[in-house]
Amino acid sequence: MKIRKAVIPAAGLGTRFLPVTKSVPKELLPILDKPMLQYVVEEAAEAGIEEVIIVTSPGKETIAAYFQPDPALEKHLAAGGDQDLLDRVRHVSSLAEVRFVIQEQPLGLGHAVLTAKAAVGDHPFAVMLPDDIVAHTPGALAQMTEVRTRFDAGVVAVERVPWEVVQNYGVVDAVEVEERVHRIRQLVEKPPREEAPSNLTIVGRYILPPEIFSCLERTPPGARGEIQLTDGLSLLLESQLLYAHEFQGRRYDGGTPLGLLRASLEFGLARADTRDAVADILRGLGSPAS
Ligand code: G1P
Repeated sequence: MKIRKAVIPAAGLGTRFLPVTKSVPKELLPILDKPMLQYVVEEAAEAGIEEVIIVTSPGKETIAAYFQPDPALEKHLAAGGDQDLLDRVRHVSSLAEVRFVIQEQPLGLGHAVLTAKAAVGDHPFAVMLPDDIVAHTPGALAQMTEVRTRFDAGVVAVERVPWEVVQNYGVVDAVEVEERVHRIRQLVEKPPREEAPSNLTIVGRYILPPEIFSCLERTPPGARGEIQLTDGLSLLLESQLLYAHEFQGRRYDGGTPLGLLRASLEFGLARADTRDAVADILRGLGSPAS
């Protein structure tokens, strides 16, 4: 069955980006000229997703505004003859149908996904964390869709990281069943380094069956006192197979200012229209303005 819906949790406080996140939602911070959130919605659309369900919190209304058509702006651009800019502005609201659900309290990622239960319904769906930006064509979700179809089971994106940083992530214990695909035996959220079962860590892309919702309803608060999606997946594993997919492509951590800076520079180097200018900037570094 085709995956039609993706849930994008975007209700966090963005504390690592304070003070800018006092008034700008983290998800709208840009890599070059596009918000992080748009890269993720584009990845969803490329994978065939038709409806995106964004979980936000009160006060983040600018996210909804971003995806709405802006007739006054479009008229202005059309009058100025700037077709390229006009196309880019229109593209945003044509990517997918975008719906919003509100998570009233910050009770954790698992709780945010549970908030989308009614909007998702009784079908397999994707979860995409907008902090994790993956640069690759085809995108990570399109690659995972292929794995899901072949194995007919839930799929979680993973990557190998240096052992020194495993404690920052969800970690899987898994048996390799083919190149880049592992059957998950166990999952643990942010374990102490010495207790981590491997250095295969979860990246924020999941394809899940609707049974995850009843698991999340039974999930007690875990790491950081929050209802963790990883703990819900552990419950799901008691009755369903789950696979981990080492997708192709590089993951950028858009959850920190330096991760976002790195993504901006590398995306700038990869894009034909900015490559030379970014290379010039990098060559000229080392003489701060003040
Ligand atoms: C979340 C998940 C974690 C995963 C990570 C990937 O953690 O809980 O399992 O490894 O995203 O970015 P967070 O980054 O929200 O602390």
